[in-house]
Amino acid sequence: MGRAASPGTVYLVGAGPGATDLITVRGLRVLASADVVLHDALVDPELLLEADPRAEVVSVGKRGYCVGSTRQEHINEALVRYARLGRSVCRLKCGDPCVFGRGGEEAEVLAAAGVPFAIVPGVTSAVGALAAAGIPLTHRDAGQAVALVTGHHDPDSPDCTLDWDALARLPGVVFYMAVRHVAKIAARLAASGLAPDTPAAVVEAGTLPRQRVCVSTVAGIGDAVAAAAVTGPAVFVVGAVVRFREKLLGFAAPAASEGGA
Ligand SMILES: C[S@@+](CC[C@H](N)C(=O)[O-])C[C@H]1O[C@@H](n2cnc3c(N)ncnc32)[C@H](O)[C@@H]1O
Repeated sequence: MGRAASPGTVYLVGAGPGATDLITVRGLRVLASADVVLHDALVDPELLLEADPRAEVVSVGKRGYCVGSTRQEHINEALVRYARLGRSVCRLKCGDPCVFGRGGEEAEVLAAAGVPFAIVPGVTSAVGALAAAGIPLTHRDAGQAVALVTGHHDPDSPDCTLDWDALARLPGVVFYMAVRHVAKIAARLAASGLAPDTPAAVVEAGTLPRQRVCVSTVAGIGDAVAAAAVTGPAVFVVGAVVRFREKLLGFAAPAASEGGA
């Protein structure tokens, strides 16, 4: 098949933190009208039912450490190839496409290839999963800053270039992709001066029916996560905001999609 006279547009779309009704209205519109949908592994299969039945729906999932996941070069090449065939493409990613989602890298590739693209933001999981767990990410009484950090690398590996002393000084830190390293991350923060009794929590499968929340302290969160056999996806938050969960939870109405008002 040759090139179309003019390329289709690629939309880098955030699917939101998990629940299918937490995608944006614009994201849903793009999903429903695209000729091709290239989606990540963490996108709920139910959301894919919103695609046009005639659309080509392709999984290009990368599950953290899993074998057999799709290489980024392959995804980049597919985005350009479909667009050059004149197809409109919905590149659907969990959360927000540009928060630990390689949306920026894919946009660079599209720009370099002369393919028109647009970014459709989504609710990132640090925001969505913590809110669903009753943890208000930036409560005014819990500090003036929060950092979003990748916990993908083992803190002891040379690939991990995080400034632990700087992170330990912040009032709030949220780690993505950190399930494997929760205990080590907590230990590194404590070694850098974070009080061991600082509240900490892990929210697994945030906003989804199987959501689970482990609440502990920096000293205890590693054991709590191991005891609960958390597998992810999960976000790991450290800071005073975690304390508000207890206060807020008893008063929270169920989310609209759970049958609440
Ligand atoms: C490759 S990153 C993608 C992040 C995504 N772009 C975002 O903005 O949320 C995958 C990580 O997102 C987080 N994540 C995704 N969905 C989640 C959920 N439903 N609950 C908690 N964390 C989630 C986990 O930390 C997971 O390891």
